[in-house]
Amino acid sequence: MIFKSSNVEVWPGTTTQVVGMNNSYPGPTIRVQRGKEFSVLFENQHNVESTIHWHGLLVPELMDGQPKDPVLPGTSYRYSFPVFQRAGTYFYHSHAHHYTAEQVYMGHAGFFIIEDEAEKQLGLPAGEFDIPLLIQDRRSVNQPQFVYSTNNQDIMQGYLGDLPLINGTPDAYFEVQKTLYRFRIVNGSNARVYQLALSDNSNFRIIATDGGLKDEAVEVNEAFISPGERIEILYDFSSFNIGESVNLVSLPFSGFGNQGTQMDLLKFNIVGNGTSGGTVPQNLPAIDYYDINSAVRTRTFELSHDMNSGPGMHRINDLTYDINRIDEKIPLNELEEWKFVNVTNNLHPIHIHGVMFQVYSRNGSTVLHPKDKGWKDTVLVDAYETVQVLIKFTDYSGRYLLHCHNLEHEDNGMMLNIEIDPATSVEEENASPEGFVLEQNYPNPFNPSTTIKYSVPSVERDLSRTSRSELKSALQNVTLKVYDILGKEVATLVNKQQSPGNYSVVFNGFNLPSGLYVYKLQAGKFSAVKKMMLLK
Ligand code: C2O
Ligand code: CU
Ligand code: CU
Repeated sequence: MIFKSSNVEVWPGTTTQVVGMNNSYPGPTIRVQRGKEFSVLFENQHNVESTIHWHGLLVPELMDGQPKDPVLPGTSYRYSFPVFQRAGTYFYHSHAHHYTAEQVYMGHAGFFIIEDEAEKQLGLPAGEFDIPLLIQDRRSVNQPQFVYSTNNQDIMQGYLGDLPLINGTPDAYFEVQKTLYRFRIVNGSNARVYQLALSDNSNFRIIATDGGLKDEAVEVNEAFISPGERIEILYDFSSFNIGESVNLVSLPFSGFGNQGTQMDLLKFNIVGNGTSGGTVPQNLPAIDYYDINSAVRTRTFELSHDMNSGPGMHRINDLTYDINRIDEKIPLNELEEWKFVNVTNNLHPIHIHGVMFQVYSRNGSTVLHPKDKGWKDTVLVDAYETVQVLIKFTDYSGRYLLHCHNLEHEDNGMMLNIEIDPATSVEEENASPEGFVLEQNYPNPFNPSTTIKYSVPSVERDLSRTSRSELKSALQNVTLKVYDILGKEVATLVNKQQSPGNYSVVFNGFNLPSGLYVYKLQAGKFSAVKKMMLLK
């Protein structure tokens, strides 16, 4: 993908200078099958540094497009990573140091959609009935140009426009059939929060949050969506007559500054009797909800602003972003409770890289709007609100980010570096009553080989007779196998009788594609599973 300035037609008959990908605004839509390797060469032909951040994707640190890893003007960088996470609606955008907001505003944003077989089996509307909608706002006073120039008020509120663009189109309309549609909605605005609804106040169903499908298709008549968030909805036009129309709107609400403006976003014109054949799924896959009682620690992040001192006005725990400072060290594989305490009268959509989390409560209430229930990477924290989330980093160690996705707040410093480290208590977590231990492989990610260590306990310990005999029979057949993420066995590393002791095996992935693999140790009823990443 080539990043550069170009002229595109946004308003009919005029040209708009944008800075984005492949002379296109929004950027090209990427669709990838789960389980595949994704790779793209990013060529920066613009005169300012840039990056591509894959928002919501679980990728290694160096593929995450962070401000600390800029692609300088005239240079290129290959982003490649395995796509192993849940199917869903993700997006990409610039994350350049101090230029994120400007580059997103000028056009650097596009869809990244992950599909998989399991989702296809659900019978959701597909093809021309599965429609991605990117919502961004621009300022009509500059029409037909996108002009990014902020004053203090813009930095305080975020750079708000009065004119919504849907997939880059002003006054957008869409011709629909009298049937069920799936809409994948991304709020790609710099700062504007929308309260989505239909103009006739009819119900729609939320079927997915940031990290893919929910466990139920819940009916609602409105949903807030803040910058960085996604929801997918099902909406049925069959009760309309041909010739009628209905609007997707943002309802007025009282919010900081000019937030909460009422807007018509997209007009649906009902034009035909076609059918999508899609249905509202009755059995969506279950979601394992974290148990707050299993959280091993709590971290609190205070969201504040300070008009009078220091370099930036927007703060997290009184800090503004320092590209070289590590603000939080977080172990892999440990469930934590994070509290976002907003002490301002402003809205802050908080986004975390490298993880999907779950919202637990808002102001102490665990009764959540359906759009908060499911896998999330961005959560809106309203004025003076406290939001609790449950979070566990399970995939990559390394340096990631936590920040406000109001992009003016982010560029102004409302961002922290977080470092995910291998867990120190791996043994504890995986010790069965019988004392088996499966350790995290090292190195990880690896190419092409890595070492997996495990230990087999002594049968001579103080065990009851049953467990001793159980253990003895378990040791008759110990297996260590490697599977790909689709569950296909790719290697058997151990399959034999074993005596107590510490073992170490080398797994060589030279003939396998890059990707996430799991390895499983099994002996009788004991089993332990861990993940590892092959990165070529
Ligand atoms: Cu969508 Cu760190 O950003
Ligand atoms: Cu992100
Ligand atoms: Cu903010």
